[in-house]
Amino acid sequence: MNQNELKRLVGEKSVEWVKNGMIVGLGTGSTVRYMVDALGRRIAEEDLQITGVTTSSVTAKQAEALGIPLISVDEADHIDIVIDGADEISSYFQGIKGGGAALLFEKIVAVNSTKVLWIVDESKMVDKLGAFPLPVEVIPYGSQKLFDRFAAKGLNPTFRKQENGSLLLTDSDNYIIDLHLEQIDDPHALAEYLIHQVGVVEHGLFLDMVNDVIVGKQVGPVVLHA
Ligand code: 5RP
Repeated sequence: MNQNELKRLVGEKSVEWVKNGMIVGLGTGSTVRYMVDALGRRIAEEDLQITGVTTSSVTAKQAEALGIPLISVDEADHIDIVIDGADEISSYFQGIKGGGAALLFEKIVAVNSTKVLWIVDESKMVDKLGAFPLPVEVIPYGSQKLFDRFAAKGLNPTFRKQENGSLLLTDSDNYIIDLHLEQIDDPHALAEYLIHQVGVVEHGLFLDMVNDVIVGKQVGPVVLHA
C-alpha cells in the first residue's frame, strides 16, 4: 500500500469509534478527508445520527456536502471525540500538527473533546519531533519582528506561502511561520517559549493531548493507546 492507501485505511477504520448520538470533532487534512467521507457513508447507509464540529473551512465544506449536521464549537455543550491527523507523533505520543494550517481550530476542538484520536500513516511515527517544520500561527501585525526574533534564536523560520507566492492566510486571517528545527529535544520548553511571544496565536506542538492513535501499516491498522 502506498501512503495514500494507508491514509484511507486509517480514515475508514477510525469511524468505528463513532457511535450514534455523538458530537464528533472533525479534523483537517488528507487523512481526515477519508474519515469524513466514511462518516458520510455511514450516515447515508446506517442512519447514523451524529453532529460534527469542524476545525477548518475545508472540512466544513466537505461535511456540509455530505449532509453531516454541524454546530460550532461554542454551540457544543461537549464533544465526545475528535478525529484528526498529525504531521509527526513521537514515541512519547507528543505531536506536531498544522501542516494544513488548521492548528488553531484543531487545538481548540482537541482541548474541548473527551477523547482525542489521531489517524496517521506509519511515516508520521518518529522517535523525536522536529524533522517536520513546526507551524506557528501569528497575527500579521508585527509578524516580521517576530520572525526576526525567531531567526536570532536560531529557530530557522520561514513564512508559509501559497502557490502564487503570497503569504498564506489561515481561517482566522493569520500567518503561519514554520520553524525548521530538525530535532526538538524539549517540546514542553519550546511550547512554553513560543506561547509567551507576543503576536503568537498558537503553535503546532500538541503535547499530552492524544488518547489513541491508529497507525496505518502494511499489515493493517494498528491501534496504540497513549
Ligand atoms: C492540519 C493538520 C493535519 O492533520 C496534518 O497536517 C496531517 O495532514 P495529512 O493527513 O494531510 O497528512 O494538522 O492542520
